[in-house]
Amino acid sequence: MDSEKWAEKVRQDFPALKKKRGGKPPIYFDNACTTLVPQTVIDAINDYYTGFPGCAGARSRHWFSQEVNDRIEGNEEKGIKGSRRIIKEFINAASEKEIIFTQNTSHAINIVALGYKFKPGDVVLLSDKEHNSNLLPWLRLQKKGVIKVDHVNTNEDGSFNLDALRQKLANNNVALVSMAYTTNLTGYTIPAEEIIKLAHAHGAKVLLDAAQTMSHRQIDVQKLDVDFLAFSIHKMCGPRGVGVLYGKRAYLGRAAHEEDETADVIEPAVLGGGTVGDTTYNSYSLLEPPERFEVGIQDYPGQIAAGAAVEYLQNIGIDKISGQMNRLNDFLTKELLKRYGDTGWFRILGPKDAGQRGGILTFEVKRPNAVGIAEELSDKNNVMIRDGVFCVHSYLNYICGEGWLRPKIPTEHKMIYRASLYFYSTIEECKVFLDTLDTIFKERSYI
Ligand code: ALA
Repeated sequence: MDSEKWAEKVRQDFPALKKKRGGKPPIYFDNACTTLVPQTVIDAINDYYTGFPGCAGARSRHWFSQEVNDRIEGNEEKGIKGSRRIIKEFINAASEKEIIFTQNTSHAINIVALGYKFKPGDVVLLSDKEHNSNLLPWLRLQKKGVIKVDHVNTNEDGSFNLDALRQKLANNNVALVSMAYTTNLTGYTIPAEEIIKLAHAHGAKVLLDAAQTMSHRQIDVQKLDVDFLAFSIHKMCGPRGVGVLYGKRAYLGRAAHEEDETADVIEPAVLGGGTVGDTTYNSYSLLEPPERFEVGIQDYPGQIAAGAAVEYLQNIGIDKISGQMNRLNDFLTKELLKRYGDTGWFRILGPKDAGQRGGILTFEVKRPNAVGIAEELSDKNNVMIRDGVFCVHSYLNYICGEGWLRPKIPTEHKMIYRASLYFYSTIEECKVFLDTLDTIFKERSYI
């Protein structure tokens, strides 16, 4: 089937795409922030609240709780796989015990940061454009004197500098390499396999922030040999407020009655109901993973819907998704470069080749008073893109100079905008975006 026709068909799954404002449909190009939600996922949330709104885990053993447990942990007799197993199979984890439900990627990274048993002098190595979620947890530990934070600079062409990584690993006491698998700023995906091999050869573990990767790339955690993987379900057509931390079983801890925890095992940062097998006035024994990390009453409808979201993506097909994103990004990139590419005030961030940027196209507009273009795109034609710093203040301050958002000389003003596409985006939508942007640039006398 023709790709545009295919996209028109899958768009029917998304109620939000049927909305209109001012007689015009939404053009949603903010998918790197959060993706839209198909009806099957909405139904999974509704089913919980209308059918069995109880708690899960070992707390209660009544009808509603059994229904919830079936949908999260599975029930072979009833032929229900359960969300945890769906996710385990999706990333090819070795065990369901390696799948910890969290609130989001930030939460998952913090679990590792707060639970990791660092030794004096340990270094955590980042890339140069980490989202604040993979920077602040480490900077806090550095501020407390627990670790040192270092980073690897990107090559001029926006690609990952493996030589720089080699040097950092050889010269530093790197305990953990923690990097965005795909950066939310430019959409570039780092060569994770090589990075992991190099890190392991130097005795360092690897945590990948896969928030921007899971939506369009099939990840096999065993093949990749990654130690920890964090991601958010809301960037995968799923509910907001649910994320996952994958960790190798050996690093998540054993059952209370087994041998002592080793120095490799991360400690749960937050303890309370649902995390312990037994307590006295003076002691406690932790449950096995994942329970020891999932404290208190959880977002059960979200966790159930997470399984529905992953199944939805599997039915669409990850290859189909990435193919669609590349096709659209290639079209958009070529059009924008043709129109404004060499003007000096318009610049695409990251590699020029759209094939290396997934569904993300971030561009800089260096013109007096370049603010408000995102609002205008939305006001004029319901085109939704994001502007600002994208939680990557550190890198943007580095390349643009601190205070770049409010320069003293108006001609030095610049703004950064990001359009992010997904498989339900269309060429027709891209054309509306391009024409509306052109109108705005003309009205501002940029062209
Ligand atoms: N990290 C998300 C983004 O890049 C929220 O938009």
